[in-house]
Amino acid sequence: MTHNPLPHEAPWWRHAVIYQVYPRSFADQDGDGVGDLPGITSRLPYLAELGVDAIWISPFYRSPMADAGYDVADYRDIDPLFGDLSDADALIARAHELGVRVVIDLVPNHTSDQHAWFQAALAAGPGSPERERYVFRPGRGDGTEPPNNWESVFGGGAWTRVTEPDGTPGQWYLHLFDDTQPDLNWDNPEVVEEFQDVLRFWLDRGVDGFRVDVAHALIKDPELPDWHGRAVMANGGDGETAHTHLGPMWDQEGVHEIYRGWRRLLDSYNPTGDPAQDRILCAEAWLPTQERTMRYTRADEMHQAFNFHFLQSPWRVDDVTEVVEASLVAAEAVGAPTTWVLSNHDVVRHASRLGLPVGTPRPNGIGALEPQPNAVLGLRRARAATTLMLALPGSAYLYNGEELGLPEHTALPDAVRQDPAFHRTAGEETGRDGCRVPMPWTAAAPSFGFGPGKESWLPQPDLYGVFAVDRQQGVDGSTLELYRTLLRVRRQHDLGVGGLEWLDLGPEVLAFRNARGDGTPVTVITNFGEEPVALPEGTSVLVCSGRLHEGMLGQDTTVWLS
Ligand code: GLC
Repeated sequence: MTHNPLPHEAPWWRHAVIYQVYPRSFADQDGDGVGDLPGITSRLPYLAELGVDAIWISPFYRSPMADAGYDVADYRDIDPLFGDLSDADALIARAHELGVRVVIDLVPNHTSDQHAWFQAALAAGPGSPERERYVFRPGRGDGTEPPNNWESVFGGGAWTRVTEPDGTPGQWYLHLFDDTQPDLNWDNPEVVEEFQDVLRFWLDRGVDGFRVDVAHALIKDPELPDWHGRAVMANGGDGETAHTHLGPMWDQEGVHEIYRGWRRLLDSYNPTGDPAQDRILCAEAWLPTQERTMRYTRADEMHQAFNFHFLQSPWRVDDVTEVVEASLVAAEAVGAPTTWVLSNHDVVRHASRLGLPVGTPRPNGIGALEPQPNAVLGLRRARAATTLMLALPGSAYLYNGEELGLPEHTALPDAVRQDPAFHRTAGEETGRDGCRVPMPWTAAAPSFGFGPGKESWLPQPDLYGVFAVDRQQGVDGSTLELYRTLLRVRRQHDLGVGGLEWLDLGPEVLAFRNARGDGTPVTVITNFGEEPVALPEGTSVLVCSGRLHEGMLGQDTTVWLS
């Protein structure tokens, strides 16, 4: 069906391009081999020039880093690894100066076991109000069996037994992820209040929004019933979807009330309702259907939810067309914008993922990456996929390094792997380290210009030199220049707020027109088939993900025409 354009005054988050900065891996200023906030601030001009509207920064809070910062020990402080609060203030101020908004990552499902609350809960013992902030239960039978059969997303059981203050084996606590990440009890009003306060803390510091970590997990079925499904992490392709099975720990009705409260709080920061002042919430919720996902974006809840259905689509014309159409329909049903995403810190980089045979099960970094991806094919398809994505109406998320066409690091030695999923499964799951390897900035510098030190926290493969920013800057046809052009032309033609009208150019071709009521329409064509496709008469090329051959569009290539 045809989808209508948005009014001119549409708020920024309906069409923003938001760039994910993974702080450990973006830029290291102090030379310890781990990225930091001053590093990010120093590279903000690069991002402004790239043409993004906002950045989302993965967690930078005080943390023992058992899950790369998704285990928060203090929500109101920066981990010394990354800097301090004044570095955060400087980053936000500089970004705003450059016209780039700042979204931060909020992790409300669990804290670190080093959080003051969890330490107090351990010390206070069973029946205490401190324990009520988490999900503590007695074991089954004689207490030696966990309270139910749930498994951790990272492998192994989801319950760990504690030793009570008197030295006896005691209660069990729930952790849907690592045992260092105890789940909070969101039925406790104290938890609700605490997070309202954390939101205020960061809103007062000027952030423009929050990406909400595992937003569908906060409330559990109060009976905590046994469940025979298996929660899996982010999938990258066909088959079983991440956190798919609607188990008693996912997507419970009660989560929506929490987000309604947060929305009211965020809206109170924009009393005049000026769309430019909107602060936003974006749900990370891996769910089986678009409809379930978009319930998080109903008018009084979050602004956006990640569209992992798009990310997980196999690279086949029917699948991609179907997921785009279904995304637009599901978004329109609740009046929310669609979002689009192809890569993040949990999945195999799309330049590698799309180089796997279509239909590879679970090619996600959490599972093993087999066979090795075809790098040339992967990059060609990745460029075509991104060129398609950035022409779609709605908001789009980019992951640091994808603008360089970075492939997954598929040959990390086991000894350097850090993902708890790798360790909890004794290496059966490869883990997500391969997409988290530090950025190459300068080909000829130590650590490819990531920082002044020679080493980086995960070793970079030699081939990253070829992808370095300085090798691509100003080079016609480079992936970096492609992204820059896409973002510029997207803005010039208002593609993010455009309407979409499907075109039929043959069975192996995805084609549509993106048009504002008053602007010149842009025609977008992706050729999935082997047969080259002729461009419609009277059109001229705005940008192309690859080379045209005698004016024809080859396989796995996307073009924008005016
Ligand atoms: C989300 C994050 C992931 C993290 C998990 C637990 O899925 O994206 O990186 O490991 O939540 O916080």
